[in-house]
Amino acid sequence: MPRQSAIVESPFIQQNYDLYTEADQEAWRRLFARMLPRWDRYANSHYLEGIHALCLDPQHIPRLEDVNRFLRPLTGFQAKAVSGYIPAFLFFDCLRNRSFPTTITIRPPDKLDYLPEPDIFHDVAGHVPMHTDPAFAETLVRFGECAHTAVEIAGNARDVHRLTNIIRAMARFFWFTIEFGLMRSKQGLKVYGRGLLSSFGEIEHSIDSPEVQRYPLQLEWTINQGFEINHYQPLLFIVDSFDHLFSLVDQLEKWMREGRLDNVAPGEPVLSEHDIESFLSGSGSHCA
Ligand SMILES: [Fe+2]
Repeated sequence: MPRQSAIVESPFIQQNYDLYTEADQEAWRRLFARMLPRWDRYANSHYLEGIHALCLDPQHIPRLEDVNRFLRPLTGFQAKAVSGYIPAFLFFDCLRNRSFPTTITIRPPDKLDYLPEPDIFHDVAGHVPMHTDPAFAETLVRFGECAHTAVEIAGNARDVHRLTNIIRAMARFFWFTIEFGLMRSKQGLKVYGRGLLSSFGEIEHSIDSPEVQRYPLQLEWTINQGFEINHYQPLLFIVDSFDHLFSLVDQLEKWMREGRLDNVAPGEPVLSEHDIESFLSGSGSHCA
């Protein structure tokens, strides 16, 4: 008998631009202005090219339709508005479909330095410029395919133990690369992780601080390494290029199929029931 699949509604909403207040626009202006010199100094060249390619306006919160006019022809990716958290499988499925779930609210002016949840500055100024780079975009799509592999080998069998370990390994790998990755370059070590690219304090800390350990990325380490989100990261991992990163995602999927992600070290991140359930009902989720 075929397994019943939960039907998940499309996660996307409209960006109602008229709802932004002058205080919201002022928060965007201040965030953008103070990050510019730090991006020039610490960001990888692909990101800087992406900022220019998207023609982001330093003075106004972007309209996603404007962002997508520049983004779509480059890699097929689109930024699509969501109201906040979406379950993990759906998020990865969106990446596979070259849709990036994009938060459209902006942090209040008195909280410019840190917000635990994403906002439009983190998502559009931090994430989306990287999506203009073809090699990086393909890596994200590959990551989305890995989520489907997880459903295929553990979700469909409702093997919660195996699935939980696989999702934890994927979440750790995503954290230490897409969110907090460093990359070697001819100009020295540069930032490509978007948690760093959208943080005024941590972008500098990640490169210059003696309090940070920086190591070449090893898959076996990364998938077993917990992390905490509420302070600057004391441990960061370095890749050589996006082609290198792509090959590591390939390896992650290979290990997943071989059962090497089935018993990763316990600890952070703690997975929500929604995230695990989204993989159990993966074939019913859609990113439309
Ligand atoms: Fe992020």
